[in-house]
Amino acid sequence: MNAAPAPALSVAVLISGRGSNMAAIAAACGNGQINARIVRVIADRATAGGIELARQLGIEVSVVPARQYADHAAFEAALRAAIDASGARLVVLAGFMRILSPEFARHYAGRMVNIHPSLLPKYPGLHTHERALAAQEHEHGASVHFVTGELDAGPLLRQARVPVLPGDTPASLSARVQVQEHIIYPEVVGWIAAGRLKAVDGLPWLDGRALWQPVVTG
Ligand code: GAR
Repeated sequence: MNAAPAPALSVAVLISGRGSNMAAIAAACGNGQINARIVRVIADRATAGGIELARQLGIEVSVVPARQYADHAAFEAALRAAIDASGARLVVLAGFMRILSPEFARHYAGRMVNIHPSLLPKYPGLHTHERALAAQEHEHGASVHFVTGELDAGPLLRQARVPVLPGDTPASLSARVQVQEHIIYPEVVGWIAAGRLKAVDGLPWLDGRALWQPVVTG
């Protein structure tokens, strides 16, 4: 008799914008590439383009409008309630443009990942493509990491490099980076869903080994 298949990892995806990374993860769930399911998309603003996209994909959406809360603590309490009500076991930040408190990060330690459009530790924060171009970098890219209390500084899991080409603009560079984001983010979610990637005492382990360096391609 065959063993029952492992249940899909339930995932909450937090967005502020277009939601193209959310859609890439949803596609990987849908085509069986990864054993995960997006149980809720949570947006911090009602204008996020990804809300409509999620609804078209048949995913439940919650809007937790940051501006309507008295302070950041009240916003985070509502965000936590929405995540926990969804039953998600993994929180995926996908273009979620809010700085989360150390307490919030600690609560989801080892259960929350983020994607950032640079080769961290280079260019944490905003305007990464503009800054990479201004610094005349020859390469740029994207990073996936566990979220900790320090902005864009948690343990790195996966990076993809892209070349910076002559004549690049922030838009052309961003588009090249996003192609890679849509590959590496579903891949990392899949590793977690398969039990291959875990946080052990704050350190990532992949396939039974401590991951001191991210897996890098490109
Ligand atoms: C992505 O490029 C992601 O790396 C970036 O926002 C974009 C969201 O695109 N995230 C950050 O800058 C977080 N610091 P999407 O809404 O189409 O997935």
